[in-house]
Amino acid sequence: MSSLAFPLADPARRVADADREAIRAAPGFGQHFTDFMAHAQWREGEGWGSDEVIPFGPLQLSPAAAVLHYAQEIFEGLKAFRHEDGTVWTFRPEKNAERLQRSARRLALPELPTEDFIASLRAVVQADEPWVPSPAGEQSLYLRPFMFASEEFLGVRAAHGVDYYVIASPAGAYFPRGIQPLVVWISDSYARAGAGGTGAAKCGGNYASSMLGKKEAQANGADEVLFLDSETHTAIDELSGMNVVVITKDGRLQTPALTGSILEGVTRDSILQLAADRGLAPSEDRLVMSEVLDRIASGDIVEMFACGTAAVINPIGEFRSAVGSWTIGDGGPGEVTMSLREELTGIQYGRIEDRHGWLTQL
Ligand code: COI
Repeated sequence: MSSLAFPLADPARRVADADREAIRAAPGFGQHFTDFMAHAQWREGEGWGSDEVIPFGPLQLSPAAAVLHYAQEIFEGLKAFRHEDGTVWTFRPEKNAERLQRSARRLALPELPTEDFIASLRAVVQADEPWVPSPAGEQSLYLRPFMFASEEFLGVRAAHGVDYYVIASPAGAYFPRGIQPLVVWISDSYARAGAGGTGAAKCGGNYASSMLGKKEAQANGADEVLFLDSETHTAIDELSGMNVVVITKDGRLQTPALTGSILEGVTRDSILQLAADRGLAPSEDRLVMSEVLDRIASGDIVEMFACGTAAVINPIGEFRSAVGSWTIGDGGPGEVTMSLREELTGIQYGRIEDRHGWLTQL
């Protein structure tokens, strides 16, 4: 039972119907926001409360709010999918709730119970129902729950005052070029996260540390950046905001093992299950970059892809570094990659049986 109800005080919409339809026709990713957002507050000694759905709009924050100085911020990413019959569903929200709880523990923030997390998603999606796209064209409503230390305090300690919000944004493809094979730059200058650090938490700081690597990638004509482990700088960690998967010539699926500095992606976990279901012998391994490049060159690795909630499954066509470039397979979208993508999105949009019970109606 959820203890938070997130009531909608005022149903007046912020965006005119015609403007909403124009946005829905070409949403891009992360550029447009809906009419409402969910909000709750946590206070030391009192717990969670002040839950409500309010108009989307600017936050009022003290310049001394702890998050602005010490970066205690964590977030999640999920999607709401409209099915052919008009109903709206989300995918494995309890996994995101549990990851938000793990991230909260690592950043010394309060944990939001799973049922309150799901209640907050449901409240926003029900208020913003006209924003959920039709299933054609694989559009969805991207949900971004986040939590931060809002307490006005400059001392370094766990915050006594925290705010939680859920905002929503109509979404098409994450990458500007659509579902085209990515060119990925191997960063030899930077690491995303270090041993014992916050790499497994979904906190803003991990993404902040990826930006310069991504800028370097773009300066070299690449779409994405790949980070290696910080200790030996030899093994694949992940991209700026997605996990990485390898498909071999003999039909096996490999992904980097969770080392504590890799995000435990919900899409990654779902792919491991779908791969097991179809006999792709999935394994979680230490993937040494130089060996992966040799295996690409020898034809042992025939496909690679990036995966995450926003990116779904996106083929990787080429690696590039300061010393060379490597084309994976024929550089085009791989057959296994695209068929896993078809199966995953088929389940999410209700076109394929949800045999693992992954969908929750909102
Ligand atoms: C997601 O996939 O939902 C993320 O949070 C990653 C980000 C690159 C958009």
